[in-house]
Amino acid sequence: MTEAIKKLFEEHEIIMEAINLAKQAGQLIGKDDARYEKSLRTLIRFFRYYADGFHHYKEEQILFPEMSKRNELLDDGVLKEMLENHEDFRNMISKIEKLLNEKDFANAQVQLDKYTEAMLDHIAVENDEVFHSAESLMDEDELERMNFRFVDSDREVAEGANDGIQVDKAELENELNELKKEFFNLA
Ligand SMILES: [Fe+2]
Ligand SMILES: [Fe+2]
Repeated sequence: MTEAIKKLFEEHEIIMEAINLAKQAGQLIGKDDARYEKSLRTLIRFFRYYADGFHHYKEEQILFPEMSKRNELLDDGVLKEMLENHEDFRNMISKIEKLLNEKDFANAQVQLDKYTEAMLDHIAVENDEVFHSAESLMDEDELERMNFRFVDSDREVAEGANDGIQVDKAELENELNELKKEFFNLA
């Protein structure tokens, strides 16, 4: 596997860790609502700024356009589906946040479970299908150039390129690790 694609795979692994925590979070409802709310804020921030901000941004701005340049048929097929998923994910996160603001924890968790299931399906399609097509459509040099663009993209997003908000990727990963430690005794 090339560096560029490996980077995306590894981000999927980290996103899947957040998904595991999101599944466990529901146990806090009714037992410790304040902790539930705080944990969900962390997860929402992670999904919004890490999964969407850093990860989907690279796919949308770099990977998918490079693939469609080489095979236009993908545009109306799997790439269209992936872009629609990303848009759905953004809307779902806003909905979850709204329910959380209204302290409707039960429904926030229902929506969060829908989100994580859909995200797992999405990741499976990319891992099994999209990333393999990318590696067969591009030669090694092209994939290496793409890797450099990924590095630039992460730096630009950290500086606010995505939605004007500055975000620290390592800090988002740390927050997730802290939550993982906190959740260790759950389940
Ligand atoms: Fe994606
Ligand atoms: Fe992805």
